[in-house]
Amino acid sequence: MENEVEQIRMENIADTDSEIFALLKQRYSPRIFKKRRIDESDLDQIFEAGRWSASSNNLQPWRFVFAEKGTKAYQLIYDCLSDFNKTWANNAPLLMLTAYQKNTKDGKENFHALHDLGLCLGNVTLQAQYLGIGLHHMAGVDWKKAHRVFKVPNNFHITTAIAMGYYGGALNDLPPDLQEEEIAQRERNPVKTFAYKESWVG
Ligand SMILES: Cc1cc2nc3c(=O)[nH]c(=O)nc-3n(C[C@H](O)[C@H](O)[C@H](O)COP(=O)(O)O)c2cc1C
Repeated sequence: MENEVEQIRMENIADTDSEIFALLKQRYSPRIFKKRRIDESDLDQIFEAGRWSASSNNLQPWRFVFAEKGTKAYQLIYDCLSDFNKTWANNAPLLMLTAYQKNTKDGKENFHALHDLGLCLGNVTLQAQYLGIGLHHMAGVDWKKAHRVFKVPNNFHITTAIAMGYYGGALNDLPPDLQEEEIAQRERNPVKTFAYKESWVG
């Protein structure tokens, strides 16, 4: 019998200043996950959502390498994570590397590729949220090592790793300090600090 904490679908709902789309309000970056494989049909939907993202000149520069727990590739991705991320990321049933193509078709630098990867990941994250799946994006990844391990061509840049799984799991899958963080109220800067009406502020 799982303990009571394990029965709870983890939630950490944003305390928003204006009402927003429920899926955006509910999204957060979990460090615990249900111990359940992600259904193939859910993965299909998640990547399909990414596929239909907008991108500069429709270049679709995003790339992903994903692997399920128990596979060699999962371990290879895990081994590229920072020491901090290693303390929790193997709670996830799926790990992923994200990358973008650096050049346009004529070989010039695609200045908007990182933007487009981010936009794609926003869509991927939201579609996953709709399916009860949380993503935890990680900058803490040795991208040079990931390039070597996965033989990524030079015109691509590994950007982040992602831990992904159904929301849930047990708080005690985490070290104590991270248990507190998992349930701490989520904070944001006020809108007026980044959305400037008619002229630059500051
Ligand atoms: C590009 C990016 C890199 C991140 N890197 C890490 C990371 O290496 N380790 C980690 O635990 N969280 C990481 N995060 C998660 C952020 O800390 C988290 O999104 C932020 O604190 C806001 O919390 P929320 O997503 O739950 O709203 C990263 C998030 C993004 C978008």
